[in-house]
Amino acid sequence: MIDFVRKFSAEAGTIREIRSRLSEPMGLVEQELSRLFHEDELLLGKVFRPLKRHVGKRLRPLLVLLSAECFTSDLSRAVKVAACAEMVHTATLIHDDVVDRSNLRRGMATLNSTWGNKVAVLAGDSVFTKALDLLVDQQSFRLLKSMTYMFTEMANGEILQILNYYNADVTMEDYIQRIKRKTALFLAYCCEAGAVLAGASEEEIEALKEYGLKMGLAFQVADDLLDFIGDESKVGKPVCSDLREGNVTLPVIHALQTSAGEEIRQIIEADEITGDDIKTILALLEREKSLEYAYEVAENYVKEAIAALDILEPSQAKKDLVKVAWYALHRQY
Ligand code: IPE
Ligand code: IPE
Ligand code: MG
Ligand code: MG
Repeated sequence: MIDFVRKFSAEAGTIREIRSRLSEPMGLVEQELSRLFHEDELLLGKVFRPLKRHVGKRLRPLLVLLSAECFTSDLSRAVKVAACAEMVHTATLIHDDVVDRSNLRRGMATLNSTWGNKVAVLAGDSVFTKALDLLVDQQSFRLLKSMTYMFTEMANGEILQILNYYNADVTMEDYIQRIKRKTALFLAYCCEAGAVLAGASEEEIEALKEYGLKMGLAFQVADDLLDFIGDESKVGKPVCSDLREGNVTLPVIHALQTSAGEEIRQIIEADEITGDDIKTILALLEREKSLEYAYEVAENYVKEAIAALDILEPSQAKKDLVKVAWYALHRQY
């Protein structure tokens, strides 16, 4: 395990330079977000305030901006849709934490842990519809349609995940389909939106969607790896929590197919997974090189994502998208 963790974090990527290069449009995205999160009513303000203060990686807005920047220097429309994407993301995280019964997000208490599930579900709805409003203003039926498609897929992907809790028969294909729906299609949407707003050709839009999809698959595999090997203080959310909830992710699916399979199956099918069970499973994942396996799967997706950009003209934005793809895998939170 130690060797693997070293390898994983030694290459820890950063997208700091991209952020500073895009500081101007990202500043406008932040302005838009703080306007949308603003609530005049004192009590509502208390609920929404933490969303303003504790920000995440802002990956989705960056993807919208970079995808647009591949084709235009006018990012004014992309800024609005970038803010919309981050709002939609925030809404999904609020709901996801209810579903996952999680009490920590971005290093702070989740809305469900502070205010309870009722308020959290409704707050997620409120943030989501504000986000949609921003998209409606763009008057792009294409982007609205893609958004509703993506969001339905995401919700259905999450439902499928729940229906497959504690299922030791789940296959790699099931897993990939599930993470495509719950995570990768959203990242593909961000890339599509940037390209559409910038007036890219259909071929170029398809290339960016493919990039987003493959990068998104790598991103979720990495997230599932971080759940096993991440440092809670860096990740800002509880670690080793997927299995505890019954969520069988790629490393475990791999190990189920090895000589450790029977032992792991028994633990999973017992329907309650304790802290000691997690330790046992982690040792088996190490023995069977299942974390390395998942890493390699993600690495292949990163390479496929980058290859999808081949048809684009060279540009700084294109170079940055390549960096972002590696970052999706090598990030530490
Ligand atoms: C978390 O997304 C949800 C997943 C799809 C894994 P991010 O890792 O982008 O979350 P923030 O916005 O940086 O907190
Ligand atoms: C992301 O999956 C699901 C979403 C669609 C938001 P996770 O449940 O693994 O995300 P984290 O780990 O809570 O951020
Ligand atoms: Mg979760
Ligand atoms: Mg996770």
